[in-house]
Amino acid sequence: MSARPLRVALVAPIILSLGLAGCGDDKPTGPPKLPKEAFNIDHAAEVAALSGDAVRGAALFRPCMSCHRIDEPQHRTGPHLLGLFGRQAGLGKSYPYSSASRKSGVIWRVETLSAYLAAPRKYMPGTKMNYPGVKAADMADLLTFLYEKGGLAPVPSGDAPKEK
Ligand code: HEC
Repeated sequence: MSARPLRVALVAPIILSLGLAGCGDDKPTGPPKLPKEAFNIDHAAEVAALSGDAVRGAALFRPCMSCHRIDEPQHRTGPHLLGLFGRQAGLGKSYPYSSASRKSGVIWRVETLSAYLAAPRKYMPGTKMNYPGVKAADMADLLTFLYEKGGLAPVPSGDAPKEK
């Protein structure tokens, strides 16, 4: 098995998926359903891309700590970042996400986090996160830290689409 560091994948894609999201502004009645995409994350590819320096990433996370915890599931100005990878933006009930986040349909993973953290308000217009952005050169280390410290979203039970 070759663990190719897919750093190019961290920087290259600026995803223009927002135009596709945002339909459906009806009020949710039950617990929100995760989209099928949430269950189809290629964890091996994610991990291969996360080959940065987590120790350096921890230092890069310091400015984030005024608004985010990743050691405890407790919100500050921003939502906690435990189990970030594979989690859908805006779904948590215990944090008052912006409607931009709720309606984005974004699943947090290497590509989407790279694009969001590089320029939060450009990637997700209307987001409440008031942060200018993370430098491209720092992204791999920061994401490696977020992954190693916060881990994957718990696998949702019950309504997971059947694998064929
Ligand atoms: C000034 C406070 C603040 C700082 C500093 C900040 N954030 Fe945020 N962040 C927020 C808020 C508020 C949100 C909620 C966004 C929304 O609802 O639109 C958020 C959302 C996020 C999300 C999406 C989480 C989810 O559950 O959808 C991630 C990931 C994130 N921030 C990472 C970071 C990282 C990494 C840093 C440091 C490089 C950082 N943030 C710095 C306030 C902040």
